[in-house]
Amino acid sequence: LSFLAGICSALKLTVPSHTIHGIAGQPLHLTVDYNFNATASEIQIIWLFERPQSNPKYLLGSVNQTVVPDLEYQHKFTLIPPNASLMINPLHISDEGNYIVKVNVRGNGTIAASQKIQVAVDVPVTKPIVHTEPSSGVVEYVGNITLKCTVGKGTRVVYQWMKNGKPLHDSPNYTFSSNNATLLIVPVVKEDIGNYSCLVSNPVSAMESEIIAPTIYYGPYGLRVKSDKGLNIGAVFTVDMGEVILFDCSADSNPPNTYSWIQRADNATHVIEYGPHLEVISDKVAQKTIDYMCRAFNNVTGKRDETHFTVVVTSVGLEKLAQKGKSLSSLAVITGISLFLILAMAFLFIWKRYQPHKDQGLITGRHRHFQDMKVLWMILGYMNLSLFLILPVVLGFQVKLFLAQTLCPARIYLVQFMKLFSIFLSSHNRILN
Ligand SMILES: *[C@@H]1O[C@H](CO)[C@@H](O)[C@H](O)[C@H]1NC(C)=O
Ligand SMILES: *[C@@H]1O[C@H](CO)[C@@H](O)[C@H](O)[C@H]1NC(C)=O
Ligand SMILES: *[C@@H]1O[C@H](CO)[C@@H](O)[C@H](O)[C@H]1NC(C)=O
Ligand SMILES: *[C@@H]1O[C@H](CO)[C@@H](O)[C@H](O)[C@H]1NC(C)=O
Ligand SMILES: *[C@@H]1O[C@H](CO)[C@@H](O)[C@H](O)[C@H]1NC(C)=O
Ligand SMILES: *[C@@H]1O[C@H](CO)[C@@H](O)[C@H](O)[C@H]1NC(C)=O
Ligand SMILES: *[C@@H]1O[C@H](CO)[C@@H](O)[C@H](O)[C@H]1NC(C)=O
Ligand SMILES: *[C@@H]1O[C@H](CO)[C@@H](O)[C@H](O)[C@H]1NC(C)=O
Repeated sequence: LSFLAGICSALKLTVPSHTIHGIAGQPLHLTVDYNFNATASEIQIIWLFERPQSNPKYLLGSVNQTVVPDLEYQHKFTLIPPNASLMINPLHISDEGNYIVKVNVRGNGTIAASQKIQVAVDVPVTKPIVHTEPSSGVVEYVGNITLKCTVGKGTRVVYQWMKNGKPLHDSPNYTFSSNNATLLIVPVVKEDIGNYSCLVSNPVSAMESEIIAPTIYYGPYGLRVKSDKGLNIGAVFTVDMGEVILFDCSADSNPPNTYSWIQRADNATHVIEYGPHLEVISDKVAQKTIDYMCRAFNNVTGKRDETHFTVVVTSVGLEKLAQKGKSLSSLAVITGISLFLILAMAFLFIWKRYQPHKDQGLITGRHRHFQDMKVLWMILGYMNLSLFLILPVVLGFQVKLFLAQTLCPARIYLVQFMKLFSIFLSSHNRILN
């Protein structure tokens, strides 16, 4: 019990934080709390201030309810005893330093406690401004960009560059100044296009600049020619005679490319059109195969790219067939193979039937008749299957069939065919032996 009483009678002085960031020009409360469990005849509170490498200065003190300020700082500091908290109003940059509070309680003897609070004073940052150099656009791989972040007011400013809202990651192309206020991009590439901003902060504030999107000239990249109509395999466009085909040439670049269309004929080339579109009226072309070229030129980067393509003009029917053939090609191939195999089987049958054979004598007429009928039945059965395959090709029913739909029945037919063929072979061999 006496041990507990000893603790309770001790003076406990607490502060919420030993480091406080104050804002210049605003009031600052240095909150202090104390308690003791003894009868006090007198409570004394003393506040001192010390800067590094200087002696502590007396600010003010109190006994019971009576405050005794240092006349020099009278208007700046406020203490309302028995509350030991100190109010500084207004806070100045020069008020930065350590604040020491000491509380003495006289009762049955005197107990004392003290605490130290470190106060840092900061001026809030103002909105930063980013200067870009050069202010006009730069050419990829040729130019450099310098982004300079300046902030009007603020102490202990930390600079952070943002690209598209995210902190900028280190890259071999980036060079930062020692305080990160300047960002240098050498050389500039297309990937550097984005929304840049400068984020400035200090312990009491943070501000972000307006977005800067530097102009970067690049390209042309990814040049390609597209067409709304016609069958296109690689750089060859197969079109119907009499059709009007529109070709589109596009390439990624800044500023937009200028496009030119060049036709090659008899070893000579000549520009036939300017602009991103080319219209070819196939019945007006004399040749059946025409070589074209689309050329994209970026007049700022001075770079150009060109792509060749060939237009093959076919008659109407052929082109339609080619289109059907595209979707039905697998079916047609299977049908072709099947027809060939049927013919081969028929030929084999006829050959076996009429060619004199040394084993012929061993086979009875009845047996042979049975065998002949079996093969004939198989051929008929298989022709039936083939007809199913040929039908859609001939009538053009399934022009828009999906590949899966086409392959599935084809595979079933093939399996059936293989089964039939193996039965045929094994039975045939058995008879021959
Ligand atoms: C402080 O207050 C106590 C009682 O509340 C009193 O006994 C004491 O004399 C006071 N001291 C001074 C210096 O006024
Ligand atoms: C002391 O004063 C501060 C601010 O002036 C206040 O926040 C705190 O609650 C007060 N403490 C007591 C025990 O009244
Ligand atoms: C003061 O201290 C003395 C000796 O330490 C003790 O005998 C006495 O009871 C105390 N009085 C009070 C009011 O705490
Ligand atoms: C870009 O920076 C590189 C390296 O510092 C320098 O050699 C080059 O001349 C600069 N280019 C321009 C356009 O300023
Ligand atoms: C950059 O900002 C503009 C407008 O503020 C926006 O349209 C564009 O999508 C942004 N670009 C990126 C890469 O976030
Ligand atoms: C500059 O920025 C880099 C990363 O963005 C960071 O690691 C570095 O500490 C910063 N330097 C200063 C002085 O702020
Ligand atoms: C096409 O040009 C090449 C080189 O310029 C030349 O060698 C060739 O003889 C020319 N052919 C025709 C058909 O003019
Ligand atoms: C470059 O091309 C753009 C558009 O393609 C055009 O507006 C501009 O006048 C051209 N500049 C020069 C110098 O030819």
